[in-house]
Amino acid sequence: MDVLTAMKENFKDCFGDAETREYFSPGRINLIGEHTDYNGGHVFPCAISLGTYALVADRNDNKTRIFSMNLADKGVIEFPMNDLKYNPAYDWANYPSGVVDVFEKAGYKADHGFDIVMYGTLPNGAGLSSSASIEVLMAVILNDTFNFGIDMVDMVKFSQKAENQFVGVNCGIMDQFAVGMGKKDCAILLDCNTLEYRYSKLAMEGYSIVITNTNKKHTLSSSAYNQRRKQCEHALSELQAVKKDIKTLGDLTNAEFDSIADHIEDPLERLRAKHAVYENQRTLQAVDALEKNDLAKFGKLMNDSHVSLRDDYDVTGEELDTLAELAWDQEGVLGSRMTGAGFGGCTISIVKNENIEDFKKNVGEAYTKRIGYAPSFYVANIADGTHKIEG
Ligand code: GLA
Repeated sequence: MDVLTAMKENFKDCFGDAETREYFSPGRINLIGEHTDYNGGHVFPCAISLGTYALVADRNDNKTRIFSMNLADKGVIEFPMNDLKYNPAYDWANYPSGVVDVFEKAGYKADHGFDIVMYGTLPNGAGLSSSASIEVLMAVILNDTFNFGIDMVDMVKFSQKAENQFVGVNCGIMDQFAVGMGKKDCAILLDCNTLEYRYSKLAMEGYSIVITNTNKKHTLSSSAYNQRRKQCEHALSELQAVKKDIKTLGDLTNAEFDSIADHIEDPLERLRAKHAVYENQRTLQAVDALEKNDLAKFGKLMNDSHVSLRDDYDVTGEELDTLAELAWDQEGVLGSRMTGAGFGGCTISIVKNENIEDFKKNVGEAYTKRIGYAPSFYVANIADGTHKIEG
């Protein structure tokens, strides 16, 4: 049974017969530029064909009732369309209700609610941005239904705001941007300082991007994430004391950073800031290499990115390190690194098409032996951003 047919059956069971509209919102991978978004640097993510589907019907009242086929045990969750507050009882539905709240506060009031069934093809808790996928999905549903005419970049900002202020996770803008602005077969070079962006065609003749999920049970990474942010902010304030014209770590070249780095008192904070600066420069070099068709150099920079995230930023952990290190040893692999926040989640590897099967077998077996459970593999399809499914 295909996804939409299964969703229609679930819809009927939950809400009865109604005319529905369909929407899709992708997840994302980030090719390079990790933990740079909230440091005013560049990121280079893309949207993928795994993501979240929604089947939506209008209601006549002010309520939304929402059901996730992935979290069926949570049942149908109900929330009003105005005066919303974070509510533990809403559980995962705090993501869509948070978006409704941000819209309302920005003057975009919904005059009725919905019945919604969602189904996600993203592996749970794998760091492929299922929450951003749901947020931008809800934004597009609202914008489409009420003809608000909001452009996608603003919907991306609203979605990030919902995550920051309603859900209370202090993320940067990369995930929502990649999900909303994704374009088939392209990555997005985004300057997180100015939000200037451009698409870069991914022409990886003979190679694919393989996503490998550590399958590490969800680790509570948000406190470590927020701590990294704080360390970078503090390091920046010490650098600003000697270099007044910088607004973010992304403003510095490696050489500029090296020349003033000893003004950061805490050695750990110095390492965190070094990663942010070097990773930003590495991202620009990597995009340049890719656009000159130098995939080997791109892969090498991916490896360097992982090492920096492991040694200087300390967000990898045994599972991600094992996957990356095993991948580096495989035939036909140009590069491999963790993607997303880290602490668990996924790696991405650039693998020659004819070596993919051996890659899965070798990495799968060795990882299982060392870690005690198996990883999962997905060949990434680079896809469009959140949209209504027409026809
Ligand atoms: C998470 C956050 C992003 C970004 C990455 C790390 O995915 O949501 O904003 O900071 O981690 O690059």
